[in-house]
Amino acid sequence: MQPRSAEQERLLHRAASAVGGCLGTFRLPDDLAIVIARGSGSRVWDTDGREFIDYVLGSGPLLIGHAHPAVVAAVQRQAELGSTFYTLNQPIIELAERMIDAIPCAEQVKFVSSGTEATLHAMRIARAYTGKPLVLKFEGGFHGVNDYALMSAMAPRPTDYPRPIPDSAGIPSEVEADVLVARWNDVDLLREVMATHADRLAAVICEPLQRSLVPAPGFLAELRELTRRHGVLLIFDEIVTGFRLAYGGGQERYGVVPDLATYGKVIGGGYPLAAVAGPAEILAVTDPTRRGKAPFAYLSGTLNGNPIGAVAGLATLDVLRAPGTYERLYATTERLTSGLRALAAERDIPIFVAGDGPVFQVFFTDAPVHDYPGVLKTDRARARAFGLACVERGLFLNPGEKFYVSLAHTDEDVDRTLEIFADALDAIA
Ligand SMILES: Cc1ncc(COP(=O)(O)O)c(C=O)c1O
Repeated sequence: MQPRSAEQERLLHRAASAVGGCLGTFRLPDDLAIVIARGSGSRVWDTDGREFIDYVLGSGPLLIGHAHPAVVAAVQRQAELGSTFYTLNQPIIELAERMIDAIPCAEQVKFVSSGTEATLHAMRIARAYTGKPLVLKFEGGFHGVNDYALMSAMAPRPTDYPRPIPDSAGIPSEVEADVLVARWNDVDLLREVMATHADRLAAVICEPLQRSLVPAPGFLAELRELTRRHGVLLIFDEIVTGFRLAYGGGQERYGVVPDLATYGKVIGGGYPLAAVAGPAEILAVTDPTRRGKAPFAYLSGTLNGNPIGAVAGLATLDVLRAPGTYERLYATTERLTSGLRALAAERDIPIFVAGDGPVFQVFFTDAPVHDYPGVLKTDRARARAFGLACVERGLFLNPGEKFYVSLAHTDEDVDRTLEIFADALDAIA
């Protein structure tokens, strides 16, 4: 890769001063930091015109690639008609109906702007509906950055179940008392924690695919059965898995239907939009006419139901529902992951590639990884070094984290990526 120009260095300098050098927690080391100028299909270019094959994809929304012509056209048309109204508009009604058709648990949809809001509201709705205070989540499960979600999501050590470890300073200590933590794929522990706390437990929240860790056979079915038996709502966080693992998301892929599900990323086609979907009877707790009369869960937001996000989402779903789409997404990912496994095996580098559908993660370990304690035992420094070596060679990715694959990734992209994987493995061997 060519070195950065003096101009891009100056932009990075301004970014360090103006925004602290990053927009959240994603930050490449200073020598690899870039300022992106544009994206198209599977590629992004920095301000020097250096090209990268992109596996960040805006952290997941761009399942059909950057600046897809159908999305661009839809957004341009809507931009001329007005950008936001804070009330009902035709595109958002159509998107809600499209989601209801696709999502097994969806009878109705409430829109918000970000995934963090969607999970916050799903948990609040569950507490309002059941009248119970606690939420159970799984260790290593990421549900955005609201106070309830940032519990044992990325702790540096295993959790002392069911007490959570807060992932951030600044969270009121009272929140900890309202969150329980269990271990992903551990049915016995789940049974025990639920039996002990069922009378105070409003909901269990999980991703059907926990980041990249697949549910063990029968785990989600058992979770569904336990939640039903104890009168606890089951929330699937489908912000990543929704429309990605299948058109009907993780619910369709794994054949387990939750009570509520949260959406983000793909449904906004790269524009800010997220949602909570579920039965009308449960979502009715957000009905503003109940205020002061019945349990009412406050749900509001300036940009909720934004029509630009809605038309971008509708255009994206149009592309995704064409025949052969998911076969292609799965096949592209399979070529990448089986190619990577073979390259590592040739070099005697033990890896475990986790994931399902067009999302995967590489762990450097000689043991399979099924839960968060397993993740903690992997060589995370090596995973990051591998990721950084890939960035140096022309892949844009979040080092040590998940790879997102899109419909725009071509066979040539896969070939080039595998060449880069080979060089990167040699570099860290
Ligand atoms: C599973 C999951 N839930 C929630 C979120 C939060 O979404 P947002 O970043 O839109 O707030 C994310 C973000 O990556 C996510 O992966």
